[in-house]
Amino acid sequence: AIAAGFGSLPLAAMAAPLTIGFSQVGAESEWRTANTMSIKDAAKKARVNLKFADAQQRQENQIKAIRSFIAQKVDVIAFSPVVETGWDTVLREAKAAKIPVILTDRTVNVSDESLYVTFIGSDFVEEGRRAGRWLLEHVKKNSPDSAVNIVELQGTVGSGPAIDRKKGFEEVIAANKKLKIIRSQTAEFTRSKGKEVMEAFLKAEGKKINVLYAHNDDMAIGAIQAIEEAGLKPGKDIVIVSIDGVKGAFEAMIAGKLNVTVECSPLLGPQLMKVAADVAAGRPVPRRIVTQEGVFPAEVAAKELPNRKY
Ligand code: AHR
Repeated sequence: AIAAGFGSLPLAAMAAPLTIGFSQVGAESEWRTANTMSIKDAAKKARVNLKFADAQQRQENQIKAIRSFIAQKVDVIAFSPVVETGWDTVLREAKAAKIPVILTDRTVNVSDESLYVTFIGSDFVEEGRRAGRWLLEHVKKNSPDSAVNIVELQGTVGSGPAIDRKKGFEEVIAANKKLKIIRSQTAEFTRSKGKEVMEAFLKAEGKKINVLYAHNDDMAIGAIQAIEEAGLKPGKDIVIVSIDGVKGAFEAMIAGKLNVTVECSPLLGPQLMKVAADVAAGRPVPRRIVTQEGVFPAEVAAKELPNRKY
Protein backbone atom coordinates (compact mmCIF):
# COMPACT_ATOMS: atom_id res chain seq x y z
CA ALA A 1 0.00 0.00 0.00
CA ILE A 2 1.20 3.51 -0.79
CA ALA A 3 0.32 6.22 1.70
CA ALA A 4 -1.22 9.24 0.04
CA GLY A 5 0.79 12.42 0.52
CA PHE A 6 3.95 10.67 1.80
CA GLY A 7 5.78 9.89 -1.44
CA SER A 8 6.35 6.20 -1.92
CA LEU A 9 6.76 5.22 1.75
CA PRO A 10 4.85 2.01 2.47
CA LEU A 11 2.44 2.41 5.38
CA ALA A 12 4.28 -0.20 7.44
CA ALA A 13 7.48 1.88 7.31
CA MET A 14 5.72 4.95 8.69
CA ALA A 15 5.91 4.15 12.38
CA ALA A 16 4.15 6.62 14.65
CA PRO A 17 6.64 9.13 16.08
CA LEU A 18 8.07 8.30 19.46
CA THR A 19 6.55 10.30 22.31
CA ILE A 20 8.90 11.19 25.17
CA GLY A 21 7.78 12.96 28.33
CA PHE A 22 10.71 14.92 29.74
CA SER A 23 10.71 16.55 33.17
CA GLN A 24 13.46 19.16 33.45
CA VAL A 25 14.86 20.42 36.78
CA GLY A 26 14.29 24.10 35.98
CA ALA A 27 16.19 27.01 34.45
CA GLU A 28 18.56 27.71 37.32
CA SER A 29 21.81 28.04 35.37
CA GLU A 30 23.47 28.69 32.01
CA TRP A 31 24.19 24.94 32.00
CA ARG A 32 20.50 24.07 32.41
CA THR A 33 19.44 26.38 29.59
CA ALA A 34 21.95 24.69 27.29
CA ASN A 35 20.71 21.26 28.43
CA THR A 36 17.09 22.18 27.65
CA MET A 37 18.09 23.50 24.21
CA SER A 38 20.07 20.35 23.47
CA ILE A 39 17.09 18.13 24.34
CA LYS A 40 14.56 20.21 22.39
CA ASP A 41 16.82 20.47 19.30
CA ALA A 42 17.66 16.78 19.31
CA ALA A 43 13.97 15.86 19.65
CA LYS A 44 13.13 18.04 16.66
CA LYS A 45 15.90 16.50 14.57
CA ALA A 46 14.86 12.95 15.53
CA ARG A 47 11.17 13.81 14.86
CA VAL A 48 10.32 12.89 18.41
CA ASN A 49 7.10 14.19 19.91
CA LEU A 50 8.53 15.80 23.06
CA LYS A 51 6.33 16.69 26.01
CA PHE A 52 8.51 19.05 28.04
CA ALA A 53 7.79 20.13 31.62
CA ASP A 54 9.88 22.59 33.67
CA ALA A 55 9.79 21.73 37.41
CA GLN A 56 11.22 25.03 38.66
CA GLN A 57 13.63 23.15 40.96
CA ARG A 58 10.76 21.44 42.86
CA GLN A 59 10.47 17.70 43.26
CA GLU A 60 6.69 17.80 43.69
CA ASN A 61 6.40 19.41 40.24
CA GLN A 62 8.50 16.63 38.75
CA ILE A 63 6.33 13.96 40.38
CA LYS A 64 3.20 15.68 39.00
CA ALA A 65 4.75 15.84 35.52
CA ILE A 66 5.71 12.14 35.60
CA ARG A 67 2.17 11.20 36.68
CA SER A 68 0.76 13.27 33.84
CA PHE A 69 3.11 11.53 31.35
CA ILE A 70 1.86 8.17 32.64
CA ALA A 71 -1.76 9.29 32.21
CA GLN A 72 -0.93 10.41 28.65
CA LYS A 73 0.62 6.99 27.95
CA VAL A 74 3.88 8.36 26.53
CA ASP A 75 6.33 5.80 25.09
CA VAL A 76 9.28 6.79 27.28
CA ILE A 77 9.67 8.99 30.35
CA ALA A 78 12.97 10.81 30.82
CA PHE A 79 13.88 13.17 33.60
CA SER A 80 16.69 14.90 35.40
CA PRO A 81 15.84 14.44 39.08
CA VAL A 82 16.23 17.61 41.15
CA VAL A 83 17.19 15.53 44.22
CA GLU A 84 18.25 11.90 44.63
CA THR A 85 15.67 10.50 47.05
CA GLY A 86 11.86 10.21 47.14
CA TRP A 87 11.25 8.63 43.72
CA ASP A 88 10.25 5.05 44.55
CA THR A 89 6.46 5.49 44.48
CA VAL A 90 6.14 7.44 41.24
CA LEU A 91 8.68 5.25 39.46
CA ARG A 92 6.77 2.14 40.57
CA GLU A 93 3.69 3.71 38.98
CA ALA A 94 5.59 4.17 35.69
CA LYS A 95 6.79 0.57 35.86
CA ALA A 96 3.25 -0.70 36.50
CA ALA A 97 2.15 1.25 33.41
CA LYS A 98 5.02 -0.43 31.48
CA ILE A 99 6.62 2.90 30.56
CA PRO A 100 10.42 2.76 30.56
CA VAL A 101 12.24 5.52 32.45
CA ILE A 102 15.57 7.06 31.42
CA LEU A 103 17.54 9.30 33.78
CA THR A 104 19.54 12.14 32.27
CA ASP A 105 22.13 14.33 33.98
CA ARG A 106 21.31 13.35 37.58
CA THR A 107 20.55 10.01 39.17
CA VAL A 108 18.13 8.73 41.82
CA ASN A 109 18.60 6.69 44.96
CA VAL A 110 15.93 3.97 44.81
CA SER A 111 15.55 0.57 46.51
CA ASP A 112 14.73 -1.19 43.22
CA GLU A 113 17.23 -0.55 40.43
CA SER A 114 14.82 -1.91 37.82
CA LEU A 115 12.73 1.27 38.22
CA TYR A 116 14.83 2.92 35.54
CA VAL A 117 16.51 1.55 32.43
CA THR A 118 19.63 3.65 32.18
CA PHE A 119 21.34 6.80 33.42
CA ILE A 120 23.03 9.13 30.90
CA GLY A 121 25.24 11.82 32.42
CA SER A 122 28.48 12.94 34.01
CA ASP A 123 30.47 11.34 36.78
CA PHE A 124 30.01 14.07 39.40
CA VAL A 125 32.37 12.50 41.95
CA GLU A 126 35.12 12.55 39.33
CA GLU A 127 34.34 16.20 38.56
CA GLY A 128 34.86 17.01 42.26
CA ARG A 129 38.12 15.06 42.21
CA ARG A 130 39.29 16.95 39.11
CA ALA A 131 38.61 20.26 40.85
CA GLY A 132 40.51 19.01 43.91
CA ARG A 133 43.48 17.77 41.86
CA TRP A 134 43.79 21.09 40.06
CA LEU A 135 43.83 22.89 43.43
CA LEU A 136 46.44 20.55 44.94
CA GLU A 137 48.73 21.20 41.98
CA HIS A 138 48.10 24.95 42.12
CA VAL A 139 48.96 25.07 45.83
CA LYS A 140 52.06 22.92 45.29
CA LYS A 141 53.33 25.37 42.66
CA ASN A 142 52.31 28.66 44.25
CA SER A 143 52.12 28.44 48.03
CA PRO A 144 53.34 25.02 49.23
CA ASP A 145 54.00 26.17 52.81
CA SER A 146 50.92 28.24 53.60
CA ALA A 147 47.60 27.26 55.09
CA VAL A 148 44.81 27.34 52.49
CA ASN A 149 41.34 28.35 53.66
CA ILE A 150 38.61 27.24 51.29
CA VAL A 151 34.97 28.33 51.15
CA GLU A 152 32.55 26.11 49.29
CA LEU A 153 29.33 27.02 47.47
CA GLN A 154 27.27 23.86 47.25
CA GLY A 155 24.59 23.08 44.70
CA THR A 156 20.98 22.23 45.54
CA VAL A 157 20.74 20.34 48.83
CA GLY A 158 20.16 16.62 48.22
CA SER A 159 21.00 16.77 44.50
CA GLY A 160 23.43 14.29 42.96
CA PRO A 161 25.92 16.91 41.75
CA ALA A 162 26.05 18.68 45.14
CA ILE A 163 26.58 15.45 47.08
CA ASP A 164 29.11 13.97 44.65
CA ARG A 165 31.12 17.09 43.85
CA LYS A 166 31.61 17.70 47.55
CA LYS A 167 32.63 14.10 48.13
CA GLY A 168 35.13 13.93 45.22
CA PHE A 169 36.74 17.26 46.14
CA GLU A 170 37.10 16.42 49.85
CA GLU A 171 38.53 13.00 49.02
CA VAL A 172 41.35 14.55 46.95
CA ILE A 173 42.23 17.58 49.09
CA ALA A 174 42.57 15.31 52.14
CA ALA A 175 46.05 14.54 50.76
CA ASN A 176 47.28 17.97 51.92
CA LYS A 177 46.47 18.83 55.54
CA LYS A 178 47.10 22.54 54.87
CA LEU A 179 43.90 22.72 52.81
CA LYS A 180 40.82 23.28 54.92
CA ILE A 181 37.17 24.01 54.07
CA ILE A 182 36.27 26.75 56.54
CA ARG A 183 32.72 27.48 55.33
CA SER A 184 30.33 25.47 53.16
CA GLN A 185 26.78 26.37 52.26
CA THR A 186 24.27 25.84 49.48
CA ALA A 187 23.64 28.57 46.93
CA GLU A 188 21.23 26.41 44.92
CA PHE A 189 23.24 26.50 41.69
CA THR A 190 22.14 30.10 40.93
CA ARG A 191 24.09 33.32 40.36
CA SER A 192 21.98 35.41 42.71
CA LYS A 193 22.39 32.98 45.61
CA GLY A 194 26.09 32.57 44.77
CA LYS A 195 26.53 36.28 45.26
CA GLU A 196 24.43 36.38 48.42
CA VAL A 197 26.19 33.47 50.15
CA MET A 198 29.65 34.71 49.13
CA GLU A 199 28.80 38.09 50.66
CA ALA A 200 28.02 36.29 53.92
CA PHE A 201 31.28 34.29 53.72
CA LEU A 202 33.25 37.49 53.16
CA LYS A 203 31.54 39.20 56.05
CA ALA A 204 32.36 36.31 58.37
CA GLU A 205 35.88 35.42 57.18
CA GLY A 206 37.13 38.46 55.20
CA LYS A 207 40.71 38.20 54.00
CA LYS A 208 41.13 34.76 55.59
CA ILE A 209 39.55 33.25 52.46
CA ASN A 210 42.15 31.97 49.98
CA VAL A 211 40.05 29.77 47.70
CA LEU A 212 36.45 29.50 46.54
CA TYR A 213 35.24 26.11 45.34
CA ALA A 214 31.85 26.52 43.61
CA HIS A 215 29.82 23.49 42.51
CA ASN A 216 28.89 25.34 39.32
CA ASP A 217 30.01 28.30 37.20
CA ASP A 218 26.87 30.35 37.82
CA MET A 219 27.46 30.44 41.58
CA ALA A 220 31.13 31.30 40.93
CA ILE A 221 30.10 34.16 38.64
CA GLY A 222 27.70 35.50 41.28
CA ALA A 223 30.46 35.19 43.89
CA ILE A 224 32.93 37.07 41.66
CA GLN A 225 30.64 40.08 41.88
CA ALA A 226 30.51 39.82 45.69
CA ILE A 227 34.32 39.58 45.86
CA GLU A 228 34.76 42.66 43.66
CA GLU A 229 32.22 44.62 45.68
CA ALA A 230 34.22 43.72 48.80
CA GLY A 231 37.26 45.39 47.19
CA LEU A 232 39.14 42.14 46.48
CA LYS A 233 40.40 40.68 43.23
CA PRO A 234 38.67 37.45 42.19
CA GLY A 235 41.12 34.99 40.61
CA LYS A 236 44.03 36.65 42.46
CA ASP A 237 43.21 37.47 46.10
CA ILE A 238 40.81 34.53 46.05
CA VAL A 239 41.54 31.60 43.73
CA ILE A 240 38.30 30.34 42.15
CA VAL A 241 37.64 26.77 41.07
CA SER A 242 34.28 25.87 39.56
CA ILE A 243 32.45 23.31 37.46
CA ASP A 244 30.48 23.22 34.15
CA GLY A 245 32.56 25.01 31.51
CA VAL A 246 29.84 27.39 30.29
CA LYS A 247 30.80 30.33 28.06
CA GLY A 248 30.36 32.74 30.98
CA ALA A 249 33.13 30.89 32.83
CA PHE A 250 35.49 31.15 29.86
CA GLU A 251 34.81 34.89 29.67
CA ALA A 252 35.53 35.21 33.40
CA MET A 253 38.79 33.27 32.95
CA ILE A 254 39.85 35.50 30.05
CA ALA A 255 39.17 38.51 32.30
CA GLY A 256 41.44 36.91 34.93
CA LYS A 257 38.63 36.48 37.46
CA LEU A 258 38.24 32.70 37.48
CA ASN A 259 41.11 30.22 37.64
CA VAL A 260 39.70 26.96 36.33
CA THR A 261 36.48 25.28 35.29
CA VAL A 262 35.93 21.52 35.26
CA GLU A 263 33.79 20.52 32.31
CA CYS A 264 30.30 19.05 32.76
CA SER A 265 28.56 18.67 29.41
CA PRO A 266 24.86 19.56 29.15
CA LEU A 267 24.70 18.38 25.52
CA LEU A 268 22.82 15.19 26.32
CA GLY A 269 19.95 15.57 23.80
CA PRO A 270 21.27 13.45 20.89
CA GLN A 271 22.25 10.58 23.22
CA LEU A 272 18.88 10.71 24.92
CA MET A 273 16.99 10.47 21.60
CA LYS A 274 19.13 7.53 20.46
CA VAL A 275 18.76 5.63 23.73
CA ALA A 276 15.01 6.34 23.94
CA ALA A 277 14.53 4.94 20.42
CA ASP A 278 16.52 1.83 21.36
CA VAL A 279 14.58 1.34 24.59
CA ALA A 280 11.22 1.78 22.83
CA ALA A 281 12.27 -0.76 20.19
CA GLY A 282 13.28 -3.25 22.89
CA ARG A 283 16.99 -3.09 22.02
CA PRO A 284 19.44 -3.48 24.93
CA VAL A 285 21.10 -0.30 26.23
CA PRO A 286 23.99 0.11 28.69
CA ARG A 287 22.90 0.62 32.29
CA ARG A 288 25.17 3.67 32.63
CA ILE A 289 26.36 6.07 29.92
CA VAL A 290 29.08 8.39 31.21
CA THR A 291 29.76 11.71 29.48
CA GLN A 292 33.40 12.37 28.50
CA GLU A 293 34.74 15.67 29.83
CA GLY A 294 37.89 17.75 30.39
CA VAL A 295 39.38 20.43 32.64
CA PHE A 296 39.97 24.00 31.39
CA PRO A 297 42.38 26.25 33.30
CA ALA A 298 42.46 30.02 32.63
CA GLU A 299 45.62 29.70 30.48
CA VAL A 300 43.70 27.91 27.70
CA ALA A 301 40.45 29.93 27.96
CA ALA A 302 41.03 32.36 25.07
CA LYS A 303 42.01 29.55 22.71
CA GLU A 304 39.09 27.34 23.75
CA LEU A 305 36.25 29.87 23.89
CA PRO A 306 35.53 29.81 20.12
CA ASN A 307 35.11 26.01 20.32
CA ARG A 308 32.60 26.06 23.15
CA LYS A 309 29.09 24.94 22.22
CA TYR A 310 27.36 26.14 25.41
O1 AHR B 1 23.12 18.63 37.30
C1 AHR B 1 24.05 19.44 36.66
C2 AHR B 1 24.19 20.73 37.38
O2 AHR B 1 22.94 21.37 37.49
C3 AHR B 1 25.09 21.74 36.73
O3 AHR B 1 26.40 21.69 37.14
C4 AHR B 1 24.48 23.01 37.23
O4 AHR B 1 24.96 24.15 36.60
C5 AHR B 1 23.06 22.71 37.04
O5 AHR B 1 22.19 23.61 37.51
